[in-house]
Amino acid sequence: MRKLRVLILGAAFAADLHLDAYSRIREKVDIVGVCDRKLDLVHALIEKYGLSNCTAYDDCDKAIAECDCDLVDVCLPNFLHHDVTIKALKRGRNVICEKPLATTVEDAQDMVDTAEKMNKHIYYAEDWLFAPAFRKAMDILKSGKVGKPLYVRARECHSGSHSPFAQRIEYCGGGAMVHLGVHPVCFLLAMKNNEWEELVAMTSGGCEDNLVHKGMEGEDWAGVFIRFKDGTFATIEANYVTMGGMEDVMNIYCESGCVHIDLSAGPIQAFSIPGLDYTIEKAEITTGWSTPAVDEKHALGYCGEIEHFVDCALKGIDAEVGLRGIDGLETLKVINLVYQSARDGVAIKNES
Ligand SMILES: NC(=O)c1ccc[n+]([C@@H]2O[C@H](COP(=O)([O-])OP(=O)(O)OC[C@H]3O[C@@H](n4cnc5c(N)ncnc54)[C@H](O)[C@@H]3O)[C@@H](O)[C@H]2O)c1
Repeated sequence: MRKLRVLILGAAFAADLHLDAYSRIREKVDIVGVCDRKLDLVHALIEKYGLSNCTAYDDCDKAIAECDCDLVDVCLPNFLHHDVTIKALKRGRNVICEKPLATTVEDAQDMVDTAEKMNKHIYYAEDWLFAPAFRKAMDILKSGKVGKPLYVRARECHSGSHSPFAQRIEYCGGGAMVHLGVHPVCFLLAMKNNEWEELVAMTSGGCEDNLVHKGMEGEDWAGVFIRFKDGTFATIEANYVTMGGMEDVMNIYCESGCVHIDLSAGPIQAFSIPGLDYTIEKAEITTGWSTPAVDEKHALGYCGEIEHFVDCALKGIDAEVGLRGIDGLETLKVINLVYQSARDGVAIKNES
């Protein structure tokens, strides 16, 4: 079978998540290049994953121009997504792009338009859609045994981003809602086929108005109520004031039942006086009682999404609903309206 040749741009946290996923499907993929302006990070990943036919690059333009690949996987800070995606598409490559698709709706629209013009695909890396527990929840809904979902409450929260680029809106596009809320927003839009009717939001505002992160331009707390065209509701929350590890939670209340999913509540509880090596993403401490994650990258959906994208790229087809460039664009549009609603103190109707 022909293998997909992949160039990864970025060699930090997200690149490591993706490489872990690629390493589980080596029979389908060859990583032919990794690029980061910090070459030591590139070499560390090449060594960690034993990448034998992989070229190390420290310049994205050079990597895109020279690397003989089928797909470019963008794991760079948000403000760089647009330029490298456009260049890769124009070079005839399909693209995986990490969330959010871009820092502005205009850039995201340009990316989607360019993909269409070049007859290539943007695969939008929304891992929630491949988290096994969320997929099981969707199977339960599809079975009809809990009835129609009437109200969904969803949140992603933790204590703050590790990325220096997350501090300035110019580099990242916003605060907790664009970084974390982007997951539940995309998931719910996919579930409801983008058919939302009205939203009203509130955020902590950024900088001095934030609850904790006074040096961060984006908000560290955000919440939005959404009414969908089918008359049902959702509450979505994102914040950087949550300690004790990342929370990825969804509660779905239906006509004849309900489904509760908590990606961070694993089946193992451990107690350690010296502290474990690792428990779950963003946990501040590992001493005392903890809930160590079980195959966290799989549980959060990274493995499933990457394998899906590889399969789609090998077949030359687009991804599932929720994981296409257009879904990244629609998600960013809603997030920008969340910010507008919070800023202006108004409810916003869907004009499209
Ligand atoms: N899906 C998820 O759950 C998830 C989790 C983490 C990050 N992400 C996304 O992944 C992307 C990367 O985030 P991250 O946390 O890995 O890292 P990051 O944002 O801290 O930086 C990524 C890397 O980009 C490199 N870089 C910066 N400018 C560069 C340039 N001009 N040329 C080459 N390299 C450059 C940096 O050296 C760094 O190693 C972001 O868009 C983020 O939102 C998604």
